[in-house]
Parts: sequence; C-alpha cells; structure tokens
Amino acid sequence: MTIPAFGLGTFRLKGQVVIDSVSNALELGYRAIDTAQIYGNEAEIGQAVEASNVARSELFLTTKIWTENLAADKLIPSLKDSLAKLRTDHVDLTLIHWPSPGGAVPLADTLAALMQAKAQGLTKQIGISNFNIALMQEAISIVGAANIATNQIELSPYLQNRKVADFVRSQGIHITSYMTLAYGKALQDPVLQAIARQHGATTAQVVLAWAMQLGYAVIPSSTQRANLQSNLQAAQLRLSEADMAQIAALERNERLVDPQGLAPQWD
Ligand SMILES: NC(=O)c1ccc[n+]([C@@H]2O[C@H](COP(=O)([O-])OP(=O)(O)OC[C@H]3O[C@@H](n4cnc5c(N)ncnc54)[C@H](OP(=O)(O)O)[C@@H]3O)[C@@H](O)[C@H]2O)c1
Repeated sequence: MTIPAFGLGTFRLKGQVVIDSVSNALELGYRAIDTAQIYGNEAEIGQAVEASNVARSELFLTTKIWTENLAADKLIPSLKDSLAKLRTDHVDLTLIHWPSPGGAVPLADTLAALMQAKAQGLTKQIGISNFNIALMQEAISIVGAANIATNQIELSPYLQNRKVADFVRSQGIHITSYMTLAYGKALQDPVLQAIARQHGATTAQVVLAWAMQLGYAVIPSSTQRANLQSNLQAAQLRLSEADMAQIAALERNERLVDPQGLAPQWD
C-alpha cells in the first residue's frame, strides 16, 4: 500500500467547477483525487468519476472525516454517506481531517472506528491530517505507525515543516503536502521563477517537483485544464542539488491555513 505521488486537490471547488476539474484531470491522466466531507463536493466528484469511465480499480480516492463525525457512533455512518455520494463501495484512504477540537472525542475512539471501517472494507488505508508531533505520537501509540498511511499537512516552499517531516520520516509514515503552491502565491516568487526559466518549465512544475523530490505526495488543484496538464508533467522534471538548496532557503514559516479552534499547537 502506498500513497500516489501525484493527485488532484478539490478544496473550494463546487458544482460544475469541480465536475469540470475532475473530468479534465481524469482525461489528462490523473488517477488520484483528494476530497473531504466538509468540501461539499463528494457527490459531484462521484458524478464526474462515473461519467469518466475510468475503472474504479485504477483510481485512488481519498476523503477526510469532518470533526463532527469523529465520534465512534458517527464515523462509519458518515463514511458510508461519503461512499454513497462518491458512488463507490470503498475509498482508498480515509483521513482524520483535523484533530478533535479541544480533544472532545478521544483519539483512540476515532482510530478504533477507522480501523473498524478498514476491517469492513470501507477504506483501504487510514491516516491523519493536520496532526502535530505530539498528536502523531499519540496516534502511533494507539494503532502503530504501520497503520497510519500518511499525515497530510500544509507544506510549501514558504512552510517547509521540517520538524514534522523529520519525525514522520523517522516513523516510516508518508507526508502528503497540501497547498504546495501556497495557493498560487509561490508562483510569484522570483527565485522559483528563475529556476523555472533555467529548466524551461513552469514555476508550478518547479514547486511540485521540489516537493516530490523530497518524497512528499502532492495534490495541487486547478480549475484550468492547461494548468492541470502542465502540473501533471512536474513528475518528469528533475531539479539539481543547487536548485533544491535555493528552494530550501525560501523557508519563512508562513502558514496559510490556521483555523482558530481547529488548529493544534504547531511544531
Ligand atoms: N487537509 C487539509 O486540511 C487541507 C487543507 C487545504 C487543502 N487541502 C487539499 O490540498 C489541495 C491543494 O491545496 P489548494 O487547492 O488549497 O492550493 P494549491 O494547490 O496550493 O493552489 C491552488 C491554486 O493555484 C492555482 N494554480 C494551480 N496550478 C497552477 C498553474 N500551473 N499556474 C498558475 N496557477 C496555478 C490554482 O488556480 P487555477 O484554478 O486558476 O489554476 C489555485 O488558485 C486542496 O485542493 C485540498 O484537496 C487539504
């Protein structure tokens, strides 16, 4: 079991916009799609996937359990609801979207429900998102690192999250970088633009290649077919050690996603 290196993000995309983005992406060769219960687009994604005629066995679908559904009696019913919307009998990966606010639902309860969902075949793998090191340690002590496929975290050239990445790597867990492009902000960066010019690549390709070269999975989103297409080609771009060092120096601990009441104390 592994996490695909490249997938499609769908945060903020709704209605016909998400249908078009997913349809274009599948046509272009994307085979992994990242959604979440809170995105309110699982049904449209299910519709687009069904219309695409791409075999379910070729697809890697990820959803995330919203904080209201983390309790043991709510998690599986909510996941079944997600599956119905996605028009499938299982997802490939189910994540805890955010740690339970204030620890209201014990992590052990949520992880037990996720393990049960896995045993029932509702999800192939389970994982976490937006977990700090302390929460990861707790999760590992409950189900073991081998049962945690990934920690999906904000990670971009401006927020390289090295402490978390080092810990995750030491446990053999995978990192999925979200908002790798810093929601488009990194594309204006002169250092990244200069590296892109040298390679005859787009700036987005440079950022995505940087993250993949560090071993992280990426899930950039786009509403534009041309961007979806060029982003996917980032997997073919090989950055030099000098390029990687220049990008490493862009770190400035700039976090874009930090919702009050949800975010744990970041490392
Ligand atoms: N676990 C979590 O809590 C969490 C939180 C946030 C996000 N995520 C996941 O991570 C995914 C990625 O994050 P994101 O969508 O917020 O941000 P992102 O992928 O960093 O950036 C998306 C933005 O970049 C633009 N863009 C993409 N490719 C481009 C290109 N080649 N040239 C120019 N602009 C380009 C897009 O605009 P256009 O549409 O115009 O191309 C869009 O505005 C989400 O969709 C979601 O699935 C997870």
